Amino acid sequence: MTRTARPLIAGNWKMNGLYSDSLTELRQLIKNTEATGTMACDVLICPPATLLREMAAASKNTAVDIGGQDCHANGKGAHTGDISAQMIAECGATYCIVGHSERRTDHGESDAVIKDKAAAAHGAGLIAIICVGETLAERESGKTLDVISAQLAGSIPVESNSDNTVIAYEPVWAIGTGKTPTPDDVKAVHAHIRQEISGRIGNSDATRLLYGGSVKASNADELMVIDNVDGALVGGASLKTDDFWPIVRSCC
Ligand code: PGA
Repeated sequence: MTRTARPLIAGNWKMNGLYSDSLTELRQLIKNTEATGTMACDVLICPPATLLREMAAASKNTAVDIGGQDCHANGKGAHTGDISAQMIAECGATYCIVGHSERRTDHGESDAVIKDKAAAAHGAGLIAIICVGETLAERESGKTLDVISAQLAGSIPVESNSDNTVIAYEPVWAIGTGKTPTPDDVKAVHAHIRQEISGRIGNSDATRLLYGGSVKASNADELMVIDNVDGALVGGASLKTDDFWPIVRSCC
């Protein structure tokens, strides 16, 4: 295993979480980090926007960071239902996911839009987690690395560096399906991403590359020791602290 960056274990709650239960889960997570003492990785929860302010307040000065799941590319304006990166930052969040495949698919977001969103996140002082990943059809037709290259080329803004940008490799067919690529496949894609971001992201060797897609307690140990895997972006298994914590511990 080669690792040059401090790992990040991020939970993406998607459209899950009401106030009371969410705060209970978060408090348990914080308690676990406090009981651990010095954490060897960063821990992030990206709750629905409705919970950002409360959760950021509850996790202030703890080892848990809070992030948004998406932001609009513009700072403000007539965009019903959207929120800006600055609004997310004002809640006390420090990260924002952009380009998740559910946004690309459900909302038709292109690489160009994702690039603008990442730039907006940077402009608001947020760390952008830019997601890339191939569909099953693309994998089966041998296009995985080409698809990833094109997504990286199109969605990384010029000011990106290892401090303000994280890349998450999330094969679309592995998200929420219980299927994961083999360790060799993950290794090959992450090595490819590391190579592709050189020249596109400042200090690319120290840029964190997360694996996402059906990460759970039972496979985290195996996934987190793969070369160039600097953490995980976890969906379903991040909703309950009891499920998420063993994944955190696989890196910390
Ligand atoms: P999953 O989702 O862990 O539920 O597969 C991952 C993601 O979409 O980030």
